[in-house]
Parts: sequence; C-alpha cells; structure tokens
Amino acid sequence: MSIEKLIRKDLLAFGGYSAATSPETLVGRIDIATRDIIKLDANENPYGCSPRVQRALAKFKQFHIYPDDGQERLRRMLSGYAGIEPEYIVGGSGSNQLIDLLVRLLINNGDEVINCTPTFGVYSFSTKLCGGTLVEVPRLKDFSIDIDNVKASITPRTKIIFISNPNNPTGTLTPRKDVLELLDTGVPVVIDEAYYEFSKQTVLPLVKKYDNLLVLRTFSKWAGLAGLRVGYGVFPPEIANFILRIKIPYNVNVAALVAVEESLKDIDYLMMSVEKIVVERARMFAALKKIEWLKPHPTRANFILCDVLKGDAQKLHDQLQSKGILVRHFDQARVKDCIRFSVGKPEHTDALLTALRQIGGE
Ligand SMILES: Cc1ncc(COP(=O)(O)O)c(C=O)c1O
Repeated sequence: MSIEKLIRKDLLAFGGYSAATSPETLVGRIDIATRDIIKLDANENPYGCSPRVQRALAKFKQFHIYPDDGQERLRRMLSGYAGIEPEYIVGGSGSNQLIDLLVRLLINNGDEVINCTPTFGVYSFSTKLCGGTLVEVPRLKDFSIDIDNVKASITPRTKIIFISNPNNPTGTLTPRKDVLELLDTGVPVVIDEAYYEFSKQTVLPLVKKYDNLLVLRTFSKWAGLAGLRVGYGVFPPEIANFILRIKIPYNVNVAALVAVEESLKDIDYLMMSVEKIVVERARMFAALKKIEWLKPHPTRANFILCDVLKGDAQKLHDQLQSKGILVRHFDQARVKDCIRFSVGKPEHTDALLTALRQIGGE
C-alpha cells in the first residue's frame, strides 16, 4: 500500500520547519570540535541558566512522577512574575506549543491567519499544519508593520493576526499604538513577546482590558532554558481554559517546573545576563556597521539582522559554519540576502568579527 494514499493530501508537499543546526550534527562535516562551536543561530542565552536551576535539578528526586496536568503551581509562580492572576496563564512546552494550540483552537479549515512577513516561521508552520489559509502582509521597508494593509486584509474568515514583538528575525519593535489599532479591529491578536526581557516593552497588562489580546512569553531566551522547553501564554481566562482542555496531558515536564521555580528565585542574576547581552548588542551593532559589505538593522531583541551587500548570504552562512560559527540564513522573501547573528558573549562577537574580516578579505 502506498503511504502517500494515507497521508493528508495537503501535507504531501509540506516542507516542515527549518530549525537551527545542532552542533552534534556537524561532527565529521567541519573541522571544529563540538565544544568549540560558537552558536549564534538560535537566539539562545550564552550565559546559560541560573546556577540555582542546575543545583536543584541535580538534587531532584521526582522524575518518575507526572507533573500536575492542571499546572496549578506553575500558573501561580508565573502569576507573580507576569503580574496577572493565574487564571489568565497557561504553560507550554516552549511558547511554540502555545502558538500551535492557539491555531488549533481557533482555525477551522480555510480560516485565515494574517502574518506580517518576514517573521517567525512557526506561525505559518502551524497554520498550514491545521489547514488554515495564510494571508501574508509584507512589512514596510523599515520592517515596521503595514497597519493599513493588515486592516484592509481582514475578512469575516480572519481568526488570528500574529505579531512577533520584537519581530524575529528583523528585531523590529511594533509601537503600542499600532498594537492598540489592531486590537480595535476585534480580531484575535497574538503578541509574541519571546524577547520581552530584552526590549522591555509589553502589552501584557492589556489582556485584562481586551478579550482579543493573546500574549506569549518564554523562558528560552532571558532565562536560558531553551533546552528545557518552557513558555507561557497570557490569555483572557475563557481562552486559557479552552487551551488547558485541548493541550496534550502533562505538557510542561517536571524538570522545567523546577527550573521555572529556581529561575524566578534568581531574577537579579538572570537580569544581569540580560543586561550584559543588551550592552554587547550595542557594541556588536557598532562593529558590524563598520563592515562596509554588511548593513545591520536596528534591533530591540538579542539578535541583529544584517543585509549582506556583497556576495551571497547563504555562502556567508556556509563559510562561517566551516569556521565553527553558526548563524542564521533565511529562505523567505525580503530576508534572502540577510544574515542574522544572535548576540553572544564579547568573545563570541570578537571571533565573529575576525571571521567576517577574513571572509571579506578573501
Ligand atoms: C518570536 C518567537 N516566538 C517564539 C519562539 C519559540 O520559543 P520557545 O523556545 O519558547 O518555543 C521563538 C524562538 O526563537 C521566537 O523567536
């Protein structure tokens, strides 16, 4: 029997999500030891998690017990950090899972999702997977959102507008007044604040005022927990309840729960890492600006997108990879000739700059 006959027809040509490269997959392909690879491709936190997390996990004795499916303690802990009552909060295995759950909850076959491109790939990934129709509204030249065009694209079938704020991969921050204008359309608006701790701008408190505002956050970036997969959504309580009902059981694992608890006891330490990254971002931006064949775009996140003005971005990605520096290159329109560098430690920036100068001089 042909497997293809069994598979949903709309998924036969589905390309999947193109995720960042894992260093271990490069063994034998490049001449650099895995431990020496500089990873500037997934906006991870180079300072890692709080040492409290490592100590608590080393001592933890309950890995054989399922976590609380209703997430009561998690929601209470997050409530303190987010400054909103637990009934507004749902935890996810990364905020990616909450993107997926929101799409599953709201999208019927053929319903429309507005995506302000170029943007984070999981919005289109989940929309396509759920049989939704993507309505792409390209960002303006400076990568700000084309608000008039978004509003003009709304139809009775529009069920979600996705805004990554700041936007991945461009780093652009959407001003609050633009978010408010979109909320006034009445369409559910997802404001993905994965990089909130770096941008320091949030609309989270407005969830109490707007029943169409859905905010996403994560512990992957500021708290250095990308590998443990924990994020959260702040939604109107009715939506939060539906998401809790449709999520897979026990979706946030016990190690992640311990890690959240310990991270929240060590916020000052984690915020020091965030500040180091913000300071390094400015130094890195200024240094990249001096390279005449790169044009960095202003950013409020922990990464910098650059136009590659000479040569080809894919080739630059490959050249850096062969030197053990992983960065991100994109297939999407508008960013095909761009490269994205996550902000690492100062020594990572120095190694990147040396490599770029060597490549530029070749
Ligand atoms: C805008 C945006 N949202 C969500 C995520 C996913 O984060 P998580 O690790 O919480 O799934 C990312 C990760 O890169 C991101 O850039």
